[in-house]
Amino acid sequence: MTTGDGVLAEAGRRRSFAVISHPDAGKSTLTEALALHARVISDAGAVHGKGGRRGVVSDWLELEKARGISITSAALQFSYRDTVINLLDTPGHADFSEDTYRVLSAVDSAVMLLDAAKGLEPQTLKLFDVCRHRGIPVLTFVNKWDRPGREALELCDELVERIGLQPMPLTWPVGEAGHFRGVLDVADGSFVRYQRTAGGATVAAEERLSSAAAEAEAGEDWVRAGEELELLAESGGEFDAQRFLAGEATPMLFGAAVLNVGVRHLLDLLVELAPRPTPRLDADGEPRPLDADFSAFVFKVQTGMDRAHRDQVAFARVCSGVFERGMVVTNATTKRPFATKYAQQVFGQQRSTVDTAYPGDVIGLVNASALRVGDTLYAGKPAVRFPGLPSFAPAHFAVARPTDLSRAKQFRKGVDQLGSEGVVQVLTSDLRGDAAPVFAAVGPMQFEVAAHRLEHEFSCPVRLDRLPYTAARRLADPAQRSLVDSGRRSEVLTRTDGVDLALFDDEMAMRILLRHHPDLALEPLVAEG
Ligand code: G4P
Repeated sequence: MTTGDGVLAEAGRRRSFAVISHPDAGKSTLTEALALHARVISDAGAVHGKGGRRGVVSDWLELEKARGISITSAALQFSYRDTVINLLDTPGHADFSEDTYRVLSAVDSAVMLLDAAKGLEPQTLKLFDVCRHRGIPVLTFVNKWDRPGREALELCDELVERIGLQPMPLTWPVGEAGHFRGVLDVADGSFVRYQRTAGGATVAAEERLSSAAAEAEAGEDWVRAGEELELLAESGGEFDAQRFLAGEATPMLFGAAVLNVGVRHLLDLLVELAPRPTPRLDADGEPRPLDADFSAFVFKVQTGMDRAHRDQVAFARVCSGVFERGMVVTNATTKRPFATKYAQQVFGQQRSTVDTAYPGDVIGLVNASALRVGDTLYAGKPAVRFPGLPSFAPAHFAVARPTDLSRAKQFRKGVDQLGSEGVVQVLTSDLRGDAAPVFAAVGPMQFEVAAHRLEHEFSCPVRLDRLPYTAARRLADPAQRSLVDSGRRSEVLTRTDGVDLALFDDEMAMRILLRHHPDLALEPLVAEG
């Protein structure tokens, strides 16, 4: 039995974070490099295995295989120094889905990974918006410094100008992108040089030189790095932990994940600076103390990860207390008991049984067909229910119909299931009737997953007809429904959670309607919850 103090100590050792980035910025490479440093994986490449490296890419769907991407999101856990690090995977495909966002409800911080040549890219920006909205502190790692890219100062300016985030460099590159000689460590002013490793397969050896030695060694590049840093410090770039935790500023590092350069520094930063788990607020706004009895919330449900067994895994983040495998917990939504005999950690195809977990950890509950995204699980007293997970502004819409009308019952059952799992949002209206619901998605790949599952799990092939809408707002006053329905390029549909969504072909169609009806109350739909 772990005591209350024991739980607090264990929670204090946890750092749970996700990497937010645009595809190709190097997230898989960085994940491998972090794992390598912590030595959970013997040679880099065992997590995602791109480019012919040894891989454990999950193949839970044919779809996923055909596209060569990983839709699965789960957590990789490893120890580093005296901490336990939980790295939650965000699916990185350009076809964004809500899963990616939901992972951010289960982390305490995020690492924003930028490609040195590209800076802020669209997907990074979307994910950053969610972090900001949820108050998640962000660390920044500028990757691929071994290749020609943009100037470090220019990248800093971009953060300030485009997202109002003050960079606070903790290392600064010596030598421009492509001529990387090492970094200036802001903490002690020393020059850190890295030994190149063959293909990044081993941890890059580091050598520290004093400032005087660095100047002799790196000459102009060293002097310039110092001057640039001074410039930045004058414009508010000095490190301030409070501003980081408040989400106003971001500690920044430069490196090259593929060469394992800068990766150790990132791990150290996570240990020293990244927030540890804090009491989560319940649905009434009361904090659930970390040392209260066990509680967790489900942030992702994945079906069919292991095709041989067609199982369903629910991923839950522990919020308080100790999880012990085999314990019987209560699902706060249904009030029903759930036995946790089969708790696992799942990452890619690797699974290992979890016996004990603490606040900040992620558990994968197998055979979890009774669990839904957003469910709260708890044991003991008092009972607790955390707020439901946010739903995100959809940008893609399609009408779903069974291709075989005799399968209408299976179709309805399947649609209910997918809607409650959050695979797609399900919208209906009196005008359209129940027989042809509208699927709404953040990314179009959600449609493919929904269609695949309806066909294979519910034996109900469907036809999806895309609708032209691209913009959605919440209709605040149901009495104004007819104003939107009367527009030629707009319509109101009701989501299963009761929210009325006003849909428009584009922003212009919305503005035209608003010009005709200035009283129309439309609200943004970004990351509610
Ligand atoms: P992702 O998960 O964010 O999509 O990116 P991933 O790690 O797959 O990296 C995308 C490409 O960028 C890969 O090259 C990878 O090797 C490369 N890369 C990652 N980090 C660095 C870095 O620090 N420096 C340089 N120069 N390249 C980096 P690829 O050609 O697509 O695949 P591969 O055959 O090299 O694996």
